[in-house]
Amino acid sequence: MSATLLRGRTLSFRDIPQSHDDEASYVYEEDGAVVVRDGLIAASGSYEQVRARFADADVVDHRPHLILPGFIDTHLHFPQAQVIGSFGTKLLDWLNTYTFVEEQKFADPTHCERMATHFFDNLLRNGTTTAVAYCSVHKASADAFFTEAERRNLRMVGGKVMMDRNAPDALCDTPQSAYDDSKDLIAAWHGRGRALYAISPRFAITSTPTQLEMAQALAAEHPECYLQTHLSENQAEIELTLELYQSARDYLDVYEMYGLLGEKSLFGHCLHLGGRERAAMAETGSVAVFCPTSNLFLGSGLFDEDGLREHGVRTAIATDIGGGTSYSMLKTLDEAYKVLQLKNQVLNPLKSFFMMTLGNARALQLDHQIGTLEEGSEADLVVLNSQATAAMSLRMETVRTLSEELFVLQTMADDRAIADVYAAGKARHPDISDR
Ligand code: GUN
Ligand code: ZN
Repeated sequence: MSATLLRGRTLSFRDIPQSHDDEASYVYEEDGAVVVRDGLIAASGSYEQVRARFADADVVDHRPHLILPGFIDTHLHFPQAQVIGSFGTKLLDWLNTYTFVEEQKFADPTHCERMATHFFDNLLRNGTTTAVAYCSVHKASADAFFTEAERRNLRMVGGKVMMDRNAPDALCDTPQSAYDDSKDLIAAWHGRGRALYAISPRFAITSTPTQLEMAQALAAEHPECYLQTHLSENQAEIELTLELYQSARDYLDVYEMYGLLGEKSLFGHCLHLGGRERAAMAETGSVAVFCPTSNLFLGSGLFDEDGLREHGVRTAIATDIGGGTSYSMLKTLDEAYKVLQLKNQVLNPLKSFFMMTLGNARALQLDHQIGTLEEGSEADLVVLNSQATAAMSLRMETVRTLSEELFVLQTMADDRAIADVYAAGKARHPDISDR
C-alpha cells in the first residue's frame, strides 16, 4: 500500500521528563516527518532523512503545526455525554440525581448508536485517539461503543458496567447476568481489530459481594483484559463502602479481597488513600487514575501525583466525562496543573504532554502500539495549531522554547487547536467528513 508522509514539527517522548528542560526525555524535529503506511508508522525523523527514504510518498504538509502521537484518555463514561455540567451536587447525589437517570436511556439501542457517534466525534475533535470507557449496564451500550469504534478503526478499550444494587432497578444486573454479558462481550470484542475489553464493576457500593466474586472469576479467566473501577473519590462514598464491606481493612481492601488488583487494573480517582492502600497499589502495579476536572467539579479532592509516584504507584490521567467537564486532554492537563499547584507540586509542560501520550500508553501497557511516533507504532496522530485563537497567537509572540509553547497549548487551547487527527493512518477529524 502507498505511503503518506506528514510533514511538520514532530514531538514524541522517550521517557518521563524530569524537568521543564529535560531534552533527553523526548525527540523533537523542527522540520520533521512521519510516514504512515498500512495503518502503522513506517518512519519518523527529520524531513530530509525521511524524505530520502520515501521519495515516492505523497506529502501532506502540516507545517507549522506540531505532530504528536494521538492523546490517550484512561477513564471516561460513554453514557455520560448528556450528564456533563449537571449542577450542584457531590458524588453520591450526582449519581442518583443525574447520572443514573441518564444511563437508563441506554436500554434503547437506537439511543446507544446515536450517542456513540457523538462520543467518538467528540474524542477525535479533541485529539483523543484511544480511550478507556465505562459503558452503561446494558450489553447493547457496549456493542454500540465497539461497533462505532470499529467502523472508525480506533484503538478503544471499554466494558459494560457491572452493578447489582444501590441503583434504580432498571440499571441493575445480577451477578450471573453481569458475568454472562461480560463474558459474551469479551468473546465478541476483545482483540477483534483494535478493540480491547475492560471488566468494569462500577464500584463497591453498586456491587454485592457475590458480584465482585463474579468480577474476580472474569478477571482470573481473562488476564488479557483490563479491570476498571472507582476508588476513594469522596468521603461519603468511603464511609458507605466501609459500612457495606465491614470486614475490609480499608476501601482498597474490598477490591483486594476479590483479587482485583494488578498491572491491568485501573482505579479511578484514588484521592484519599491511606499508607496501606498506597503500598498495596504499588506492590501490585495497580494504576491510580487522576481525573482533575471531575475532582474539581464534584468537589471530591486533590490528587497527590508526587506522593503516589514517590510510593511507587503507577499513575495515569483522564477526563472522567461526565463528572469531568471537558473531552479535551489539553484542558484536563490545564486543570491538573492547577490541582497540583494547590498541592505545592509542579507539573512541568513536558511531563503533561508525556502523560497524555506515552505515559498513559505505559499505564495501559500499550506503549509498543500507541503513544509514540516510533517506527512500527500504530499511526494514531494529532496535529496541533499553537496559534488557533487570537489570544494564543498574541501569546505565542513571546514564546521562545518548546516547553513554553506546550504550556501555552495546555493552558489556552481547546478543540480549536486540533488541526487534524489520524487514526491508523487515516485522517479522521469529524469536521472533515469527506476525508
Ligand atoms: N463512582 C461510581 N460511578 C461513578 C461515575 O460514574 N463517575 C464518577 N466520577 N464516580 C463514580
Ligand atoms: Zn468515572
